[in-house]
Amino acid sequence: MTYTVRLLPSNIQFEVEKGQTVLDAALNQHVSFPHRCQVGACAACLCRKVEGEVSYHLEPMLTEREQAEGWVFPCQAFAESHLVLTFEE
Ligand code: FES
Repeated sequence: MTYTVRLLPSNIQFEVEKGQTVLDAALNQHVSFPHRCQVGACAACLCRKVEGEVSYHLEPMLTEREQAEGWVFPCQAFAESHLVLTFEE
């Protein structure tokens, strides 16, 4: 299963396969995606979900409020649907 991820505000799109993190998919397709640690610790990749569902093997450390606001850790997140992610405030 493959899902499409669209990034805002750049409108860049890439595909993510089941079992692949959103960040890995982006880097494999040479999409410049902010990142550093790739293990959910530095928050460099943090962005907000506008549409879609993600899942985690290990839930990242987000407060309920942050989760409600849609913050996701793409280096840890697996797509469960097509996604729209934003780096805008
Ligand atoms: S790259 Fe560090 S938290 Fe995602």
